Amino acid sequence: MHESPESALPGFPDDFLFGAATAGYQIEGAHDEDGRGPSIWDTFSREPGRVAHGATGDVACDHYHRYREDVGLLRELGVDSYRFSIAWPRVQPAGGGPVNTPGVDFYDRLVDELLAAGISPAATLYHWDLPQALEDRGGWRVRETAERFAEYTAIMADRLGDRVDRWITLNEPYCSAFVGYAAGGHAPGAREGRGALAAAHHLLVGHGLAVRALRAAGARQVGITLNPDRLLPATESPADLDAVRRAETLHNDTWFEPLFAGRYPQHEAETWGELLESADEPYRREGDLALIAAPLDFVGINYYRPITVADAPYEDPDPASRTAVDIRVRETWRDDVRHTTMGWPVVPHTFTDLLVDLAKRYPTLPPVLITENGSAEADTVDAEGRVRDTDRIEYLRTHLEALAAAMRAGVDVRGYYVWSLLDNFEWARGYDQRFGIVRVDYATQQRIPKDSYHWYRQLIAAHRAHRQP
Ligand code: FCB
Repeated sequence: MHESPESALPGFPDDFLFGAATAGYQIEGAHDEDGRGPSIWDTFSREPGRVAHGATGDVACDHYHRYREDVGLLRELGVDSYRFSIAWPRVQPAGGGPVNTPGVDFYDRLVDELLAAGISPAATLYHWDLPQALEDRGGWRVRETAERFAEYTAIMADRLGDRVDRWITLNEPYCSAFVGYAAGGHAPGAREGRGALAAAHHLLVGHGLAVRALRAAGARQVGITLNPDRLLPATESPADLDAVRRAETLHNDTWFEPLFAGRYPQHEAETWGELLESADEPYRREGDLALIAAPLDFVGINYYRPITVADAPYEDPDPASRTAVDIRVRETWRDDVRHTTMGWPVVPHTFTDLLVDLAKRYPTLPPVLITENGSAEADTVDAEGRVRDTDRIEYLRTHLEALAAAMRAGVDVRGYYVWSLLDNFEWARGYDQRFGIVRVDYATQQRIPKDSYHWYRQLIAAHRAHRQP
């Protein structure tokens, strides 16, 4: 009855991990329960005009109360691993100081439930929900937040390190720094120049300190999740090619160069000029690069779509109001491909190209885990109560094929997590965008596995059946 995945099984190695991913604020709800403190997303989502229809994560998928049912869905799906995130404000409501035991206990129960279902836990420590108390003291603009992050990490490693197989320090620090502190589209909604560049640096320092804490606690596997973009020039003109270079600095080099080459981006002066740190307000310190570049067991890559960019003149020449995303680049629309409801173009081969290029560029790149990939579609429930999300199946199938092509070209990829297990709170887009392979009816909290869930389940089962005995 469902499209057969047999043809979509492109020969992944026997020990390849198939998984599904979610994040705390997007699914948990229970925003003020059991001592949880407010995060920057609680604050941001309450500010008028920030999130579509004024939506918040107060209830979301109510996963905090329904986690057993959700782990049941994962078990039925047959995934090897589940990627979830830990909400720092549940663990330390004020971002530092005493541990809120009931908050930690929730993740303890979740991890045990996963293990009982035969699913390997992959925990993200920071998926954007900074305790508001830390934002009030400067947030990621200040080094203190990186230090607090390492303390919180040590608490979690101590509590769950005996059972969590994979730790991800940060999720997409690009978004935290540049969407949160420069474009203003995510919490805390700031529009800054140097503040955002300092935030980018302190996120990396926080990662480095967290890696150190995880190693000290004997954690099993440690990595970070990045969202490198495949950037394409709108034309081959020198101006557009320069624009691509600046965009590469913003989206990719700021993260990959310090982490995997131990240096700051080559084109940062061209990209940011006077916004970079000044002698009187330095944020980079001696020793930071060595800390940031400490070896990792894996790198998580989230990939959804390519971005086509063109040169663009400044609209506002006033340097005082220039933010870190004002780099004289604009995104252009392409008419030749389908777009998902996010407005994201579907171009699977760019997934292959991105991975092959990264592996070529960074010979020391650790093994790759695809920690997110998926699509938001205009799902409907038909008269039989079924969600026939053929567009999503097509998206997943073609992206898995593109991934297999990258692996055939030599990229060392060890696993793939679909985004997302559940429809959820899609940040500034609220509940309008549905990424789940399971539909959530927010009025009743009923879960309805979509056709894509059944397709993925069969794909995983077929993969198992093909494994060598
Ligand atoms: C990524 C986020 C994830 C989800 C997807 C669609 O940037 O990490 O939480 O919102 O996009």
